[in-house]
Amino acid sequence: LMACPPPLSAKDEKSFAYETIKDRLPLIVTRIVDFLARHRSGIAKQYGEVGENECKSCIGAMDKLRYEIARDKSILLLNDYHTDDLQIWNECLQKEMDQGKVISWFQSSWLLVECYMYRKIAEAFYSTKHLQHIDPFFELKQHTFYASMGAINVLLAQLNVDIEQNIDVVNNKSTIEQQFYNYMEISLWGNQCDLSLSGGAHSSQEHDPFHQITELKSHILINHATSVFNYLLDQQAYLLNFDVSVDFVLDNAGFELLTDLCLADFLISKRLCSRITLYLKCLPWFVSDATKSDFTWLLEQLSNTSADPAWQAAAKRWQQYIQNGQWIVQTHRFFTLPYDYSKMQQISPELYSVMSESKLIIFKGDLNYRKLVGDLRWPVNERFETALRGFQPTSFVVLRTCKADVQLELDLKLVQQVAKLDPRWMVNGKWAVIQAHFKKDT
Ligand code: F6P
Ligand code: MG
Repeated sequence: LMACPPPLSAKDEKSFAYETIKDRLPLIVTRIVDFLARHRSGIAKQYGEVGENECKSCIGAMDKLRYEIARDKSILLLNDYHTDDLQIWNECLQKEMDQGKVISWFQSSWLLVECYMYRKIAEAFYSTKHLQHIDPFFELKQHTFYASMGAINVLLAQLNVDIEQNIDVVNNKSTIEQQFYNYMEISLWGNQCDLSLSGGAHSSQEHDPFHQITELKSHILINHATSVFNYLLDQQAYLLNFDVSVDFVLDNAGFELLTDLCLADFLISKRLCSRITLYLKCLPWFVSDATKSDFTWLLEQLSNTSADPAWQAAAKRWQQYIQNGQWIVQTHRFFTLPYDYSKMQQISPELYSVMSESKLIIFKGDLNYRKLVGDLRWPVNERFETALRGFQPTSFVVLRTCKADVQLELDLKLVQQVAKLDPRWMVNGKWAVIQAHFKKDT
C-alpha cells in the first residue's frame, strides 16, 4: 500500500484551511445568530414561549460553537436523538478518538471539522420541537437566486430554443457537441456562486452566461469535456434501445442548481442519456448546498403562473421528466458524512452499487473534488487516479471551480504561469477544472 500525504489542516497557518477555520467559519455561525435574532419575534408569535425559548437555545448553541472554534476546543460526540445519521457520525468521531487523537478545530483534518460544523449546527435545530425543519441558510439561497435573474432569463430562453430545435446527434453531431460544451461550461462556472466561500455574502451571477464561458475558457486548467462527450456518444442512448443512466451529485442551490438542471435537460432531450438521478443533501450543508426543499422551491419559482414564459416552459419539461421517471430526485446520508469517497464502498455499500450501475457520474463543485481526492496534501502534479485511492464505481467527471488548496495532475509549468498571474488561483474560485476518470477494468 502506498503512503498517502497528510490531510489538509488548519495546523498549517499558511493554508486556506487555516484561513477558513479562523475567519470564514465563525462568520457563517455569526450569520445564523443574526438570522435567529431577526426571526425571534416571528417564531414567538407562531410557537409561543416554547418556540421562543428554543430560538434562544439555538442562539446559545451557536455562540458556544463560535467560542469553541476560536479557542480550538476539542470536538465531542454529537448528542441529538432520533436522527438516523447520529450513530454513524459518532462512530466516525469515536474511531478518530480511539486512535488517541484529540479532534480539534485547528489540529485535525479540515474536511472532518468543517463537515462537523454543519452537522453541529443541525444538532442545535434537531434538538428543538418547533425549529427542527428550519434551514438557517434558506433566505440567503433564495435571495441570491433572484439576484441572478438576468442570467437566468438569458439561459432559459436559449435552452428552450436549443431543445425545441430539431437537431440531434444523428442529423447534426457537431452542433450538439458545441451545445454540450456550452451547457457543461455554464454548469461549471455556475459553481462560482457558492455562498460558503464568501462567508454567506451574496454571490450571484450577473453576466450573460454564454458570453461568460467564452471569456473564461482560458481559466479552465484541465478540460476533459471532449472525452466525456465521446464517451457518452459511445453509450448510444440516441438509438433508443439502450438504458443509459447518468448521476449528478449536485452542489449549490440557486443559480448553480439551475445550470445543472439545464445540463441535465440537454442530456435527456438530446438523448445523450436516457435517465438521470439527481442527488441532493439531507441537511443544510456548506451554506448553499441544495436540499430537496431548495429543489422544490426552484421548480415552484419557475412554474409560477406569474413567471416568465421561458421559465414556465423549462419547468413544464422538468416536471414531466420527474413524472415519467427520466429524472429521479434522491438524497443519501453518505453525502453529509465526513467520509471521503474512497470510503463509500465500505460505509454505504448500497449507494456504491447503485452508482456503479450508471454510466457516468457528474460531480459538482469544490467539496466533491476535495472528497474524491481525500482532501490530502497531494503534489499538484500527482496523478488523479492515484489520489482517488481506488474509488471508481463507474466513470465520472468533476466540474469544479477551485476553492481549496488541493489540485491533481497539473503540469508544473502551467502551475508556475498561473501562480504568477494569480497567486490565489487555487482558492479564489476564478480557475476551474473539468476533470474526468474513465473506469478501468480491474
Ligand atoms: O473554500 C471554500 C469552501 O468553503 C470550501 O471550504 C469548500 O470546499 C467549498 O467552499 C464549498 O464549495 P462548493 O460549493 O463548490 O463545494
Ligand atoms: Mg457547496
